Amino acid sequence: MTLPQAAGEALAWARAQLRNSPGAEPLDAAILLAHVLAVPRVELLAHPERPLSAEQAARFAGLVARRAAGVPVAYLTGTRAFYDRELLVSPAVLIPRPETELLVEAALAWAQGRAGLRVADVGTGSGAIAVTLAAHLPDAQIHAVDCSPEALAVARQNADRAGIAERIVFYEGDLLGPLLDAGVMLDLIAANLPYIPTDDLAVLEVARHEPRPALDGGPDGLDAIRRLLAQAPRALAAGGLALLEIGAGQGERAAALAARVFPDAAIAVLPDYAGHDRVLRIERSG
Ligand SMILES: C[S@@+](CC[C@H](N)C(=O)[O-])C[C@H]1O[C@@H](n2cnc3c(N)ncnc32)[C@H](O)[C@@H]1O
Repeated sequence: MTLPQAAGEALAWARAQLRNSPGAEPLDAAILLAHVLAVPRVELLAHPERPLSAEQAARFAGLVARRAAGVPVAYLTGTRAFYDRELLVSPAVLIPRPETELLVEAALAWAQGRAGLRVADVGTGSGAIAVTLAAHLPDAQIHAVDCSPEALAVARQNADRAGIAERIVFYEGDLLGPLLDAGVMLDLIAANLPYIPTDDLAVLEVARHEPRPALDGGPDGLDAIRRLLAQAPRALAAGGLALLEIGAGQGERAAALAARVFPDAAIAVLPDYAGHDRVLRIERSG
């Protein structure tokens, strides 16, 4: 194979390679080439004659081959945009999704005008929720939990990059367990826990690449959410808020679970932009 020697030629070559790859998007070739050349994507269009060194061409060809094999672009570039920042990601963490930005928005809307909040991000993964909330709530105390030490290492790196590492306490453990053990009370619990039913994982492309503990929600998808709800009354202060990301179609069952645990709370299911159930909102009476 002769490797392309200029940006325009490289893009055309990569688009042809990825044309029939399931899940590949039209922009993938440009994102990967911009990553290899360390230039903004617009540069590639403005300067198709830009030369590639032999090392750059070989590296680009390697990334395109991995993309064609289904590896997500974010794992190839090592970054993903989330809310108002770019986060580091690795195959140890779920690639943060735009749907989770709705949870962050709901948290920030509620937090407005409330000082000194005690906040937990349960199942922090890349730290997407914890780091974003810490950056926007400068006087909040943030706690971030994950059962995966590899994920926590990525979350710590993202906190470092945001310059807020000292504002987040990280815990390796099961759900709210480490916080209950430490006697931490919370005003806000945010959690994007695994919620895909186990049987659905077999047919999902994401399950081939993203970590199973980030996806597998047990037989009905609600195992982790059910266990978190069982712990939550001991950790959530009166007047506090819990925001739990859920799967499309899980709203009714998740709300019923919440109502059993928090009979006096205001419970709602917030939809995403596609109109699917996305966030279970539980506001405890004050
Ligand atoms: C769906 S990912 C979400 C990651 C990140 N919060 C986000 O929104 O992009 C779920 C995360 O929960 C973690 N997790 C799964 N079960 C857990 C448990 N029982 N206790 C703590 N963390 C758990 C996984 O390791 C994974 O990082």
